[in-house]
Amino acid sequence: MTKYQSQDKFFKKAKEEGYRARSVFKLQAIDERYHLLRPGMKVLDLGAAPGSFLQYIGEKIGERGVGIGIDLQKIEDLKLVNVKTYQGDIFDEELYKKIVRENGLDKFDLITSDLAPKTTGIPFVDGGASLDLNLQVLEVVAKYLRRGGGLVMKILPGFNEGDLIGEARKIFRVIRKYRPQAVRKSSGESYIVCLKKS
Ligand SMILES: C[S@@+](CC[C@H](N)C(=O)[O-])C[C@H]1O[C@@H](n2cnc3c(N)ncnc32)[C@H](O)[C@@H]1O
Repeated sequence: MTKYQSQDKFFKKAKEEGYRARSVFKLQAIDERYHLLRPGMKVLDLGAAPGSFLQYIGEKIGERGVGIGIDLQKIEDLKLVNVKTYQGDIFDEELYKKIVRENGLDKFDLITSDLAPKTTGIPFVDGGASLDLNLQVLEVVAKYLRRGGGLVMKILPGFNEGDLIGEARKIFRVIRKYRPQAVRKSSGESYIVCLKKS
């Protein structure tokens, strides 16, 4: 199968199944492998537009669960009663305070991040921008993820990923790297799955 046929496969499948992006199949594959999402969970999705992760999360957490998405871009209404979205920057501390207050939340059970910086095509620059985002994700995790909770985070190549994994190791007891089939063959991206926050 050529690269383009395989891109088509996930793109078409997303359309057919009513998902807003093919990325959904990355989260689905990660969830099927690590069994992360369960009914009733409270989940925070960082870099959530256009919303396919949230669509999947909404299905898995059921009506007792709460899914919250943040993105710089506006997310068109997902029409899911258990999912709410906020347009904003993940570096904005006031936004988290607002989210927690407005939704009567304390901490989340799971945080997902598919954050991607505006890319330049220069791996070193893009990787550095991705690292900045990911270090901020770890800050959010430290404050807003419950003990025992998990994190799924996209990483790009082009920087010393060992530094990031080293930071994650200070917070989580289990760390795995995983590259779902739906990641385009031309992309260097992969995900780290962090489990059991200390
Ligand atoms: C690959 S897309 C996410 C796709 C999403 N997981 C889905 O399934 O629909 C990455 C997103 O990260 C967002 N992003 C990048 N930097 C951000 C920041 N500082 N704060 C919030 N969102 C950011 C971008 O706006 C973009 O929508």
